[in-house]
Amino acid sequence: MDKFYLTTAIDYVNGAPHIGHAYEKILSDVIARHYKQRCDDVYFLTGTDEHGIKIQKTAAKEGITPKELCDKNSQKFKDAWKALDMDYNRFIRTTDEDHKAIVQKIFQKLLDNGDIYMHSYEGWYCPGCECFLNPKDLTEDGLCPDHLRKPDIVKEENYFFKLSKYKDAIIKHIKENPDFILPQFRANEVLNQLEDIQDISVSRAKSNVQWGIDVLNDPEQSIYVWIDALSNYITALGYDTENPSEMFKKYWPVDVHVIGKDILKFHSIYWIGILMALGLPLPKHIFAHGWITIDESKMSKSLGNVISPTSVIENFELSTPDAFRYYMATTAPAGRDGNYSDDDFKEKVNAHLANSMGNLLNRTLSMLVKYFDGEIKPEFDINNNELVEGSKALLKTALGKVKIVENHFDKFEIAEAGQEIINLVDLTNKYVTDNAPWTLAKEEKMTECGQVLTTVLEVMCVVSALIYPYCPNIAQDMAKQLSFNLDSVKLDTLDVHNIKTGKLITKEEIHPVFLRVDSELADKSKALVK
Ligand code: ME8
Ligand code: MG
Repeated sequence: MDKFYLTTAIDYVNGAPHIGHAYEKILSDVIARHYKQRCDDVYFLTGTDEHGIKIQKTAAKEGITPKELCDKNSQKFKDAWKALDMDYNRFIRTTDEDHKAIVQKIFQKLLDNGDIYMHSYEGWYCPGCECFLNPKDLTEDGLCPDHLRKPDIVKEENYFFKLSKYKDAIIKHIKENPDFILPQFRANEVLNQLEDIQDISVSRAKSNVQWGIDVLNDPEQSIYVWIDALSNYITALGYDTENPSEMFKKYWPVDVHVIGKDILKFHSIYWIGILMALGLPLPKHIFAHGWITIDESKMSKSLGNVISPTSVIENFELSTPDAFRYYMATTAPAGRDGNYSDDDFKEKVNAHLANSMGNLLNRTLSMLVKYFDGEIKPEFDINNNELVEGSKALLKTALGKVKIVENHFDKFEIAEAGQEIINLVDLTNKYVTDNAPWTLAKEEKMTECGQVLTTVLEVMCVVSALIYPYCPNIAQDMAKQLSFNLDSVKLDTLDVHNIKTGKLITKEEIHPVFLRVDSELADKSKALVK
């Protein structure tokens, strides 16, 4: 693998970020960090979507300019992602000058090639979705099914993109590439939508939508916000209609667009049509995640249950975002909806991170100090053929897990991969119980005792590498106590010979990598998004 390019959806800045936005960004950051362990060159793009009627209306309501609203809220997204330890390469804003200039050129090229034409049109436009709705998609009361509000009737002369021209090619591509849309169960939904796909309006009259990028040679029209937004995936790399940058040539096509299930149509139909019209290679994968509910109900301002991305960290007084990252990344099987609840959060991170994983390392290192003054003796060498029962098998299982985890990541099964890691921790706990190193010590079988401890510590090196994408701080802390260098780990060459002979650790250096979440702090996390 010579490069890996991944993107997130870019969020609308008409409000502050919430836990649903955080879910997608955490999944993406976990994917990016995993691929950094397999490939030297990962490029990770995220950002904010700042144009359109929705932003224009919210700014007007707040009595500020659209740009002021964008600056204010875009910063909130950036701050939240910083608090979650997101390690992206670029945060693109669709109000960035380089982006705007390239979007105008893309539009112009489609126009010059005859893929865009003028057409008079009347339809139902939902500002929430930022798109025209098909009358048959409305509820019985004529409302947008997602936003439960009446769409606006729009009658305008607009530019249209000849999406219908690419319909057959898109269908063919989806059918011939079963891994293109992941999880695969979503592909049929897209194929159904493609059945009645028509040309789409790709501009709005300036008289109605002022907050957008002007069509280059027609200042009466502004470019449709979805065309503007989708283009971010190539403008961020310096795509140019005449002279694509070195970065674009290196990273495009994208390895995966990580998006929510609600915007799959825009990515797997509209965006693919545009890329085809531009003559560009298509994304390798589009991964659509599910939605997050709070205590099993849909998040909404009217229900007052919208949780900010950082409130869980603040209210449980967590020193790093790791536990929240771990919980969110493993809350739902790939593509399925997930849920956040305080009780479940506490229960899961206490069980997995504190009791199973953290305690295992802590107990093992403590025994190493107690019985051997923290020293790994030459006779503990796990290459020794006469290891105690089950040691070789456990080490083999640990290495096997690396492959299993990689295979899950190749399908963006982040929760499933996490479960495999915890499963390895559980097996290791069982190995400790079965071999009872404390009994071996009592019986003065010191070589066997030392071998059991060393075997566990070798597995913990593997665990720290695998858990790193989810819990980067905890993993680094584990690695430090194991004198294991995580920074240079490549999963393809990871082995179980990382624990060096000699003094490993002193009593003072041993500390828990994760403290149980305090139950008394539980109910404070209902901090609402302001
Ligand atoms: O759709 N659970 O922006 P957006 C999980 N600007 N994911 C959620 C969620 C929830 N409760 N709520 C939102 C847009 N999301 C466009 C994208 S991309 C070129 C343009 C996800 O702010 C949602 O599915 O409405 C989407 O992927 C992302 O957050 C941004 O949503
Ligand atoms: Mg949305």
